[in-house]
Amino acid sequence: MAQQHRLNHLAIAVTDLDAALAFYRDALGLHVERVETVEREAVAVAFLPLGDGESEIEILQPTRDDTGVAKWLAKHGPGMHHLCIQVADIEATLARLAAHGAELINPQPVEKPDGTRYAFIHPKSAFGVLVELYQLPPTA
Ligand code: CO
Repeated sequence: MAQQHRLNHLAIAVTDLDAALAFYRDALGLHVERVETVEREAVAVAFLPLGDGESEIEILQPTRDDTGVAKWLAKHGPGMHHLCIQVADIEATLARLAAHGAELINPQPVEKPDGTRYAFIHPKSAFGVLVELYQLPPTA
């Protein structure tokens, strides 16, 4: 079962993406695969794959002040925002979490345009860490 769980990404929230890339890309030497603006979530995201590309660091900069990430940044300052665990069956994982009394931000998975389904678990239940679950779409 263990290999069904993978670290998909770690997300870092920042107020200045260019400044963050001056560290993570230029100083640390990580490769930036792409930078895109996700209008739906009002964030600019830089994707920095690690190792064989199964895991990556995502650096998020809010593009508006009224989003969850923007409010989190205003409160906490830049830092690690969430980690994302990839699972084989997100519905079964959410059911298991609910049965254990975990507080779920998304009791049902939300689907992205690319077919990836995700759900967030409240940090209260995960010892202070916002945890995201991913189930990738079946590969064609
Ligand atoms: Co994420």
